[in-house]
Amino acid sequence: MSTSVSPSNNPIELKPITFWAPTTKVQRLLALLLLIFQGGITVTGSIVRVTGSGLGCDTWPLCHEGSLVPVAGAAPWIHQAVEFGNRMLTFVLVAAALAVFIAVLGAKRRKEIVVHSFIQGLGIIAQAVIGGITVLVDLHWYAVALHFLPSMVLVFLAATLYTRIGEPDDGEMSSPFPNWIRNVAVVGAVALSVVLITGTMTTGAGVHSGDADISMEDRLDVNIDWIAHVHGYSMYVYLFFTLIVVAGLYKVNASKHNKQLGLMLILFILVQAGIGILQYRLGVPRWSIPFHIAMSSVVVAFTSLLWSQGRVRVGGKATTTGSLDGDAKLEVLSYQKGVKTA
Ligand code: HEM
Repeated sequence: MSTSVSPSNNPIELKPITFWAPTTKVQRLLALLLLIFQGGITVTGSIVRVTGSGLGCDTWPLCHEGSLVPVAGAAPWIHQAVEFGNRMLTFVLVAAALAVFIAVLGAKRRKEIVVHSFIQGLGIIAQAVIGGITVLVDLHWYAVALHFLPSMVLVFLAATLYTRIGEPDDGEMSSPFPNWIRNVAVVGAVALSVVLITGTMTTGAGVHSGDADISMEDRLDVNIDWIAHVHGYSMYVYLFFTLIVVAGLYKVNASKHNKQLGLMLILFILVQAGIGILQYRLGVPRWSIPFHIAMSSVVVAFTSLLWSQGRVRVGGKATTTGSLDGDAKLEVLSYQKGVKTA
């Protein structure tokens, strides 16, 4: 870390984010919130769908003509609450993405991290557009699927961002476990994509495609039992590869953290499979869908966390903000603050 704390002899350029050099801890906390909101919005979106609350607010960005918030009597209160809550989460998600972007710029993090957080912002904008198109095409099943799947990509990338932020920019690249385990994790992630795609197809063919008013023509015309079985069997393929990854981690005696991540992923896949089988057996009750969606985000996030542990930066001297320039900037800011308060 630089020992020169005087602003006069410190060469770093404070612009464009001059006022803030957050620590790695703060950056990670913001990235974690972003990850939670990315997953959370798919859950609130599914609650809107299964409760048929889409018209709880009938204008945008106002909830009703002349009112930003729900109005008593304008629509059933539960629909207003669900739709309004979902809209609020969009703003929270945008705020979180913006906060992460400003934080990593402020801390002068490496390009990889800045690009990752920029992609999160771009993804949210793209999702807003896709969401609009989904409504325009009357919630046709493929549009609902194409709206859901990018969110899973964003959850995956948000979890990767969370991992990467924790690694110092000046650290050395290292592989905590052999490459073959990482490659099997990639195969597992591909199998997970198949699970997710066939999941949206199962929904598309089922009773909860789109919303309450969706017509039969807008559903996917395949046998629901058949597609649900393809979906279920692809889950076993995903589970199989994940088990190989975790067995590999134990075989090479990987770190406790990585082994724990692996075990948690297996547990979450089993919980998700349990929910899936239960909802299939019970004839897909509405209440089960948000749980199945929530757990989809959880397994996607943990798949990413485990995979991204395969190549990490270790060591390094940038211990406070994650970047040497950020650490120096923090020193300058602390110095300036000290001068002001003195
Ligand atoms: C890791 C395991 C699993 C994941 C990640 C997963 C993911 C998904 C996803 C993303 C959807 C689409 C949700 C939507 O668009 O609303 C879905 C739907 C569905 N899944 Fe799974 N699933 C898993 C395992 C299972 C299993 C083992 C079954 C048992 C057959 C199952 C049964 C269903 C059913 C019946 C639907 C349709 C629900 C509806 O009509 O909305 N899932 N799944």
